[in-house]
Amino acid sequence: MFPEVRLRRLRRTEGLRNMFGQPLPGPEKFIWPVFVREGTGVEEPIDAMPGQSRMSADVLLKKLEPVAESGVGGVLLFGLTDPSKKDSRGSEAWSETGAVQQAVPLIKKEFPQLTVFTDVCLCAYTDHGHCGALHAGTEVKNDETLGLLQKVAVSHAVAGADCVAPSAMMDGQILAIREALDENDLTDTLLMSYSTKFASSMYGPFREAEQSAPGKGDRQGYQASYGDLRTALRESEFDEDEGADILMVKPALMYLDVITRLRETTDLPLAAYNVSGEYSMLIAQAERGWGDLRAMVRENIAAMQRAGTDIFISYWANRYAELLAR
Ligand code: PBG
Ligand code: ZN
Repeated sequence: MFPEVRLRRLRRTEGLRNMFGQPLPGPEKFIWPVFVREGTGVEEPIDAMPGQSRMSADVLLKKLEPVAESGVGGVLLFGLTDPSKKDSRGSEAWSETGAVQQAVPLIKKEFPQLTVFTDVCLCAYTDHGHCGALHAGTEVKNDETLGLLQKVAVSHAVAGADCVAPSAMMDGQILAIREALDENDLTDTLLMSYSTKFASSMYGPFREAEQSAPGKGDRQGYQASYGDLRTALRESEFDEDEGADILMVKPALMYLDVITRLRETTDLPLAAYNVSGEYSMLIAQAERGWGDLRAMVRENIAAMQRAGTDIFISYWANRYAELLAR
């Protein structure tokens, strides 16, 4: 064949590379995860996630201005509460005066073009740090937790969230939440499932941000096992059957095969959660001078896109203009 076939011809100039290459996803495909807490004027930088902070709603609104301006599609809210308000069932998670419930209407009013997603879980509100009510030490009670997650999801939807996103990995949580939303006439609220969410070592920086690390035990009893691909895929299949509008794979970069597999077997939109550890490792590498941040971020996002991702939940979203725009 050589020299009639010369593949280098197709990428010789920047013009050719742009013409034949897939463009990076636009800002409308990105969702920025943010940590919102009670109070006013609060901005606490997160040590393990440079560039991200815990914020009160007023500070968040200011930070959202350039983000909305850059065309980013949405935000995903994670709530925090004072340690004194944590209890064994995480009851502050469905309080009308909780940080998320208060922030949602403010964001919708100020930035109607942003789609507001809320994380539905209990781990930032329980005194033991697990994603549900506990049973005999460290085992999370599945069915009792469903009732609690219903309350959280309804409280977020009532506050005006466009989409609720349960991340607790309880069996039946999608059906339970869908039923609760319907019973409350919240039939327009989208339901994005953290459907294939792995028990991953890449959530460390997030747990510092959310102060949500389990006190005892770990989450391997409820989150998917990376060694068992078939069961991990079934997690998403069941959530589709239970009525999820959007499925998700989390983390993203170490599970591109899972994204591709799901892309081939479902017609639901697919989100990839580019998690805290995936974010912080690039920052650490760039800080040491071992890689160019912009180039690394672009390559990471392109990989998720090629695998079949429709929407990107990523801490890079607030730097879209700097890192991802052409
Ligand atoms: C908890 C939750 C976690 C993340 C999102 N929701 C952590 C966990 O499961 O321990 C991780 C997000 C990230 O690492 O960026 N329900
Ligand atoms: Zn949780």
